[in-house]
Parts: sequence; C-alpha cells; structure tokens
Amino acid sequence: MVHAIRIHKAGPASVLKWQEVDIGNPRKGEVLIRNTAVGLNFIDTYHRKGLYPIPTPFTPGVEGAGVIEKIGAGVMGLKAGDRVAYCSDPIGSYAEKRLFPANRLIKISRGISDEQAASMMLKGLTASMLLKRIHKPAKGEKVLIHAAAGGVGLILCQWAKHLGATVIGTVSSRQKANLARANGCDHTINYAEKDFVQQVRRLTKGEGVPVVYDGVGKNTYPGSLDCLQSRGMWITFGNASGPVPPVAPLTLLQKGSLFMTRPMLNHYIETDDELRSLARELFSVVRKGAVNIQVNQRYKLKDAAKAHRDLEKRRTSGSTVLIP
Ligand SMILES: NC(=O)c1ccc[n+]([C@@H]2O[C@H](COP(=O)([O-])OP(=O)(O)OC[C@H]3O[C@@H](n4cnc5c(N)ncnc54)[C@H](OP(=O)(O)O)[C@@H]3O)[C@@H](O)[C@H]2O)c1
Repeated sequence: MVHAIRIHKAGPASVLKWQEVDIGNPRKGEVLIRNTAVGLNFIDTYHRKGLYPIPTPFTPGVEGAGVIEKIGAGVMGLKAGDRVAYCSDPIGSYAEKRLFPANRLIKISRGISDEQAASMMLKGLTASMLLKRIHKPAKGEKVLIHAAAGGVGLILCQWAKHLGATVIGTVSSRQKANLARANGCDHTINYAEKDFVQQVRRLTKGEGVPVVYDGVGKNTYPGSLDCLQSRGMWITFGNASGPVPPVAPLTLLQKGSLFMTRPMLNHYIETDDELRSLARELFSVVRKGAVNIQVNQRYKLKDAAKAHRDLEKRRTSGSTVLIP
C-alpha cells in the first residue's frame, strides 16, 4: 500500500483526500516509480472540478519525476535506480509510488534536478508544442503571452525570447511583472489594472501582434482577438479564468481573417517519437541555460488542497512541486 491523493467526487479543493491505495506490481511494459517530486498544474484543478471529467475514484496529477524501483516484463533500456520523468496519460502522479508505461518515460539528464524535471514535463512540453509546432516566432516578431509569470508562462517567455521574439506579457501584480521581465518579457502589462488591448496597440504602434498565446481563456476573450494583426493566430490553450464561450467563424473573419486553434499537448505527443522529439527540444534549451525552470513553491503532497487553493487564487508564480 502507498499513500496517494484521491478524488471520490468532483468539487472544490476539499475533495482531495490523502489515502492509502494498493497499486500492485508492474505489468508487461510498465515500471514502478517512487515519485520524488510531483508537478502541480492548472489542469489538475479542471480534473478535480469535473471541467475535464474523469471517472471517480481516481488519483489526479499529470506530471512527475522519480526513481524506478521495479521493472515489468519486456521493458528494455531502463533499470531500477534510473531517474525518470513523465507527463500526461495515464493520470495519477499525486502518489508516493505509481505504475507507468516504460515507453512514455524520459530519462532525466544530469544537471537537471528531480524537482525541475517534475515541473517541466507537462508545462515545458506545452511550451515546446506552442513555440515549435504551432507558431514559431520569427526573429524580431512581437508576441503576446498571457499569464506570463505562471508555470507555462515563464517557460514560454524565456523560450520565445531565446528564439528572438519581442515578448509582451500580461500579469496581475507588480511582483509578477518583475519576475516576467527578469525572464524574457520585454514589456509587461498589468491586465488587472489596464486594458491590455489598448496597451498592446500602443506597444505595437497600432499594428497588433501576429500571435497570442492564451492560457487564461474566458477573461481574455475577446480581447486577445483584438490584439491580433490581420491573419494573426490566436492560440487558446487553457481555461485558467474559465472556458472560452463558443466563437463564431464570422467573428474570425470580421476581426481580420484570423486563425484560431485550441490545442492539447496529448494530441502532439501521440507517438513515442513525437514525445521524445518535443522532450529533446525542451531538455536542450534547459541544459544550455536558455530556459531556467523555476520552482517557486513547494508543498507536501498530502497538502495538495492548499496548493490547489493557492494556484486558483493566483498566489503562485513559475512552477510548483508537491513532495511525497
Ligand atoms: N493545452 C494544453 O495541453 C495545456 C497544457 C498545460 C497547461 N495548459 C494551460 O496553460 C495554462 C497555464 O497552466 P499552469 O499550470 O502553468 O498555470 P499558471 O499559469 O501557473 O496559473 C494560472 C495563471 O493564470 C492567471 N489567471 C488569470 N485569470 C485567472 C483566474 N481568474 N483564476 C486563476 N488564474 C488566473 C494567473 O496569473 P496572473 O495572476 O498573472 O493573471 C495564474 O497564476 C492553464 O490554462 C492550463 O490549463 C494547457
């Protein structure tokens, strides 16, 4: 038996219960991992609340790192003692130990800590998907990144800057603005105080930006569309403030023949090759220091409810890990 956070009914943070579960032994193709750090993600709150429904009971969590303890039949290229990281399916990282398919694991390179690995798999691969598969900013291109001081946001800002973009980031406080500027943002806009559309128009001399990376959702719609140049790309990849309402195709026409995409990382890492290729690009920018993975908050795993409340109340910045 091991301890894990369990959800028996969708709801507020109080539904996260610290309980014992029997995880059994690794089956064919699986390994048993002792988690040393678990990444906290806004998506965990969607699973908890039922916005992205999961059959109950379940163990939440889509990101983690740890040490392999046992290998199932047929597993090649991994052994007990290896440090590994993972993200996405199967859900269930909020646990002291867990089973995971061996083919979906990434070995953690030397020089990257377990905490960093645990907080860069889902968030960093998402940044990798956004900047390397969906819209790669050209040198000198101005881009708008919402929630620039968040987990995905801080990685995006640093990486976009490294690619040569001029980065405009939105944030809700002065501290977050300072953090975003120290991590690749050329300009920050406090969207809690100022109209971000007007500010983007001012910073781009009325032209607008060719791309908006928008993980905030409801509260930045339709403003994000009004920040775009003709034929610009709105990448709406999250719902931190709530889901975006339905968008009519004619709205995209009226605002300048815009493009809209609503990506999810799972669909960009469907094959093992796709997963490894995105991970290689991420680990490469982290190893060379172009992107620094900042773990700004730590909680005990059993205090996951407090971590969820802080994340939802916008009290966190950068990445957060839960320690089993
Ligand atoms: N599509 C995918 O595959 C994928 C994968 C990973 C993550 N995501 C999405 O990426 C986004 C960022 O995820 P994350 O885990 O890194 O979270 P995060 O950015 O660390 O936290 C969310 C941030 O959103 C901002 N925010 C704006 N309005 C908010 C509101 N009403 N309530 C709460 N926060 C609000 C806050 O920053 P300010 O205080 O500065 O406004 C907050 O810190 C989320 O929308 C997540 O769903 C999508």
